[in-house]
Amino acid sequence: MKDCRFFTLYYPNAMQSFQEILNLVAEAIKQVPDRQEPKGLYEPIRYVLSLGGKRIRPALMLMAYGMYRDDIESIMPTALGIETYHNYTLLHDDVMDRAEVRRGKPCVHRVWDDNTAILSGDAMLVLAYQLMAQARPGCLAEVLSIFTQTALEIGEGQQFDMDFEQRMDVSEEEYIEMIRLKTSVLLACALKIGAVQAQAPAADADLLYKFGERMGLAFQLQDDLLDVYGDYSTFGKQIGGDILCNKKTYMLIQALRNANDEQRTQLEMWLNTIISETGSSAGRSEAELEKIQAVTALYDAIGVRAMAEAKINDYFAEALDCLKAINLPDERKQPLLELAHQLMNRQS
Ligand code: IPE
Ligand code: IPE
Ligand code: MG
Ligand code: MG
Ligand code: MG
Repeated sequence: MKDCRFFTLYYPNAMQSFQEILNLVAEAIKQVPDRQEPKGLYEPIRYVLSLGGKRIRPALMLMAYGMYRDDIESIMPTALGIETYHNYTLLHDDVMDRAEVRRGKPCVHRVWDDNTAILSGDAMLVLAYQLMAQARPGCLAEVLSIFTQTALEIGEGQQFDMDFEQRMDVSEEEYIEMIRLKTSVLLACALKIGAVQAQAPAADADLLYKFGERMGLAFQLQDDLLDVYGDYSTFGKQIGGDILCNKKTYMLIQALRNANDEQRTQLEMWLNTIISETGSSAGRSEAELEKIQAVTALYDAIGVRAMAEAKINDYFAEALDCLKAINLPDERKQPLLELAHQLMNRQS
């Protein structure tokens, strides 16, 4: 009761729950893109944005802002900007990873073609900047600086990810830095941009950044795990894509490190087996399935799943420590805490 009075006294409007925030984002994102012609450019953007996804990045931004101020809708343009940016990376990532399915539907480059995914993706990057430029007055320079730094880092992470496909000696440290760049910094950036626009203390903005970074590491480790052990119908992406691309995931790195001689020979044989693209959104070819099943069986035998799960839990705990260190009433942190726990149990 005491906490409740405190809450009422200092924060007259009730904070929005995670679901309410998602509803606000879902409604607002219908306005993106705000242009129509040519359809070949804008329809793919509407298509991918309409497929939804978890929309955690705008939710994180609005929640970080909401820890300090109640008028979260005032920063909706920047929240839409980060989601538009994220979806741009997905259009290009699916071309680079030869993915067929995203959010349970054929990828843009499969419904249309690679050129469409490239150009519509480029347009989304520009739209993202246009939205980011609508940051609250007084913090535009800082918001754009954080966003630009992040966007460059993501490109760096993606390049490391691609380079690592060709390498056999990627270390755990290199992998963690690669996923920090390609994935974590965007979650961290979303939170920091929310905090900056709320004029939160700089120390809080940095703690929120670190919270996002740790969550992001857990999140990408989990994405890699679901790529092997997830269920296609809930994950919304075909299982086994990372194995087919020889992605140097934490699991593969640990498998190579912990394999016995026979297992390592087998693993290396499969890594040298490059399967030409015959799959489709309808399913995997026999050759693809054979490689995926064989590598998964080696992962099972070596026990890499438990290693990845332990690492995920470590990063999750570190993230929660960052959130705890922020000097605000627990009520203000509740939506972020809820989102964090939902993410840790996610199957999609
Ligand atoms: C996919 O991100 C790309 C990764 C960083 C793993 P999400 O898992 O957030 O994708 P959506 O937006 O919910 O579809
Ligand atoms: C996500 O990596 C990183 C970016 C999209 C920048 P993944 O390649 O693992 O993402 P999914 O699995 O295709 O969503
Ligand atoms: Mg990728
Ligand atoms: Mg991918
Ligand atoms: Mg993945």
